[in-house]
Amino acid sequence: MTDMALKIENLKAEVEGKEILKGIDLTINSGEIHALMGPNGAGKSTLGEVLIGHPNYKITGGKILINGRDLTNATPEERARAGLFLAFQNPISISGVKISTFLRMAYNNLYPDEKMPLKEFFNMVKTVMKDVDMDESFISRSINDGFSGGERKRFEVLQMVILKPKIVILDEIDSGLDVDALKLVSAEIKKMHDQKVGFLIITHYQRILKDIIPEFVHVLKDGRIVMNGDNKVSDRIEDEGYDWIKE
Ligand SMILES: Nc1ncnc2c1ncn2[C@@H]1O[C@H](COP(=O)(O)OP(=O)(O)O)[C@@H](O)[C@H]1O
Ligand SMILES: [Mg+2]
Repeated sequence: MTDMALKIENLKAEVEGKEILKGIDLTINSGEIHALMGPNGAGKSTLGEVLIGHPNYKITGGKILINGRDLTNATPEERARAGLFLAFQNPISISGVKISTFLRMAYNNLYPDEKMPLKEFFNMVKTVMKDVDMDESFISRSINDGFSGGERKRFEVLQMVILKPKIVILDEIDSGLDVDALKLVSAEIKKMHDQKVGFLIITHYQRILKDIIPEFVHVLKDGRIVMNGDNKVSDRIEDEGYDWIKE
């Protein structure tokens, strides 16, 4: 896999006229696992949404670069083609679109030259579904239609594995997952990490970081990264919360 660097430079963003991100600097390289932690309302999900190009969030300063290429104003599709993947915290239901159709379309959009035969593609999908313990019948269901919290999360992981991104942003992937499901999800993350995928794991709690040990931990408070460290920081947050970290 070609190496990739996602570089965020002095990024500022607002939502509904309110400044949420107040100058974020962060670089994620292939094969690195970063955790972004912080109290509720710090702006963690906002950063994720801004990185993937959600239209509700307005970038008011700074840059998003992928291998030096400026993607600050790129569309979500362009970002995905550049290798970014974001599993949303609250994925919207696109009713009427079957999982199978969605995945095939998304894959063909990303890899138009590959022309993988349908049968081969769905065999690949079914293998991953087994790995994350999704029933095969899911494949013909509509996206997120009546999915439980855990099923949504599994579907996010399914997309992540199938779409072969180079840098993955996971927002609260551990919420709504029981211990067994979390193990399966962590195993998929580890496999991708072995293939040098880079990760930004956004999480309020330290739970998933017991399985996936981040090399870098960043703490976001009120729209600013107030601490950069390693997993000792996340361990201390588990014991003491966020109050000891000053803005
Ligand atoms: N779509 C939105 N409309 C209005 N305010 C928003 C929206 N998204 C986020 N915010 C506000 O931005 C702040 C940061 O939210 P968020 O990024 O979700 O924090 P976190 O993920 O760290 O809990 C909060 O004050 C929240 O109310
Ligand atoms: Mg959030």
